[in-house]
Amino acid sequence: MAAPRFSESYINELKSRIRISDVVGRKVKLTKKGKEWVGLSPFTAEKTPSFYVNDQKQFFKCFSSGKFGDVISFLQETERLGFSEAIERLAGEAGMDLPQDTAQDRAERSRRGRLLDVCEAACAYFEDRLRGPEGSAARAYLDGRGLKPESWGKYRLGFAPDGWRHLQEFLKGKGAREEDMLAAGLIIRPDNGKEPYDRFRGRLMFPIEDTTGKVIAFGGRALEKDAKPKYLNSPETELFHKGHQLYRYKRAREAAAMANREGLIVCEGYMDVIALCEAGFEYAVAPLGTALTEDQLGLIWKVGGEPILCFDGDEAGVRAAHKAVDRAMPHLEPGRSLFFAMLPDGLDPDDLIRERGKGAMKEVLEKASPLVELLWQRELIAHPLDTPERQAGFEQRLDQATGQIVHDGVKKAYGRELHQRLRNHMFQLRRGGGAGGRPGAAPGRAATQPLQPNVNARGLRILTRMIDSPALLESGLERLAIARFPDPAVSSLKDAVFDLIESGEEVDRTGLTSHLRHLGKDDAIQLLRTQPTGSPLDPASPEGQDWLSALERFCAVDELSQDEERLGRNAAGVSIENSRVSLKARLKTEIRDLTRGDDQDIGSESHRSGLRDALNAFDEIVKRKMGR
Ligand code: UTP
Ligand code: MN
Repeated sequence: MAAPRFSESYINELKSRIRISDVVGRKVKLTKKGKEWVGLSPFTAEKTPSFYVNDQKQFFKCFSSGKFGDVISFLQETERLGFSEAIERLAGEAGMDLPQDTAQDRAERSRRGRLLDVCEAACAYFEDRLRGPEGSAARAYLDGRGLKPESWGKYRLGFAPDGWRHLQEFLKGKGAREEDMLAAGLIIRPDNGKEPYDRFRGRLMFPIEDTTGKVIAFGGRALEKDAKPKYLNSPETELFHKGHQLYRYKRAREAAAMANREGLIVCEGYMDVIALCEAGFEYAVAPLGTALTEDQLGLIWKVGGEPILCFDGDEAGVRAAHKAVDRAMPHLEPGRSLFFAMLPDGLDPDDLIRERGKGAMKEVLEKASPLVELLWQRELIAHPLDTPERQAGFEQRLDQATGQIVHDGVKKAYGRELHQRLRNHMFQLRRGGGAGGRPGAAPGRAATQPLQPNVNARGLRILTRMIDSPALLESGLERLAIARFPDPAVSSLKDAVFDLIESGEEVDRTGLTSHLRHLGKDDAIQLLRTQPTGSPLDPASPEGQDWLSALERFCAVDELSQDEERLGRNAAGVSIENSRVSLKARLKTEIRDLTRGDDQDIGSESHRSGLRDALNAFDEIVKRKMGR
């Protein structure tokens, strides 16, 4: 890239040597308010102060004018200085030498300036064409996507008319050089020596701006449904390196500062960013058609340490999310991580907002999972955990992942968190329960689910045992039909079993997984994967019988909890206590009956302990209801 006169590191050093509140304080009377300074806007005639300066973050923000920037842009805005002049003034103040400026630097800078001019002129041209007679199809397209003309300007949307030389003739008319148009990626010179032609033809245009807001490239969307490619982007140029840019970064950064957000929303496409903006989430960006690079992560983290990355809930989306996990791991720091929002039913943010409204989007964002949760789930479902060797392998994978983290404190915290989850999970497995979908304490944005009570995990275990054993399922079907599973994910799994039966399909893990995916019930799929696969059983065999009576017991416990609900509605403590005694007696008898049975029967012990657990669980419930 042509060297700008002042490198990023020079500017960063300059900014760190100057306190922005000192510079601003000469123009605006500031008073301290928490971590920030506040005063009356120098840009408007406001009466109540809404102009903030933050020394730590080195920026100012002005709610009355909507302006946002650093110390350099403050001088540009208030003193009418150019960028270089503002820097020269500050460098003098900070006692820094100005960087050497060679003839080559100057030449490169002027070329860079020309390329920027060409891009800006092209952007304005496309904007005009969208409004002209040739733009009617593009206007209809935008209308179909719900984008009103009032919003076009905000995103500088445009239209590249269909034809080979519209843009280049226009730019030539403005005095642009052909070599600059080529270098800016706006026209293409064919190999056969023929005349150059316009790159973008008959496309809806999305300008891409650099981190300072200058147009450096474009994305162009085809209007027809099946045109290939759907989006055509500018090539890599001296101005544009797509791995270093994010769509709408500067605007999003400003919006995040205004909204006091500790992080951007990162989605996958141009239209997603726009739909999010339109729905009020203005702090949204997107990479440009590729997986996030480390550079892009750096840009994202500059805005705040807790960005939310949105992905499709399907397999490709999960893979992309895992890629981002791997990219981010080495760079995690205290307060600097990623959150992940997985979208339901193959929808992208644009679809979700259109079909289900802003509220649905907000909910998805609020439910975003922390990075540690994705890491845990990925390793958890990678392989079964049914042998000690596999369990050790799991632990090893977790340690390997943790080892990627460079920051020592964060690495230790991950070690502790993941081992805690591991212990909880193994404990659950050994109790014969199988852990629930989200074992361990997940430090999420949303309230995290507590450990599943044992009764739930038991139900899941029984259900999966029947899924793996068609004959058993057949024998227990009637019972299973009335069993109630309090955990919604387990309940979806059960419903899916009956869906398959009703449609005459075979019930097995593959069929269930694809049916559940279709329903968007990813949590149920994950739950199923946490369960070890059992071999098919004969219902008449002792083990088969065991499982059937386990189901029977499970339903009995279920009846108890229904009794409990009825009891809960009964105000008289005495009658609750009476019922408790009688229910307890019922359970005790059942335990005794079991104990009297054939003790060699391997299942009996686990049934007894299951019943005891149920009894204890029930006791807990009643104690709570009886009121402390
Ligand atoms: P998607 O295919 O998910 O499209 O590409 P989308 O964003 O939902 O677009 P609409 O809603 O159909 O208009 C996601 C992003 O990947 C890049 C673009 O940046 C796009 O926004 N992409 C996609 C390309 O660069 N080229 C393509 O051909 C397709
Ligand atoms: Mn889309």
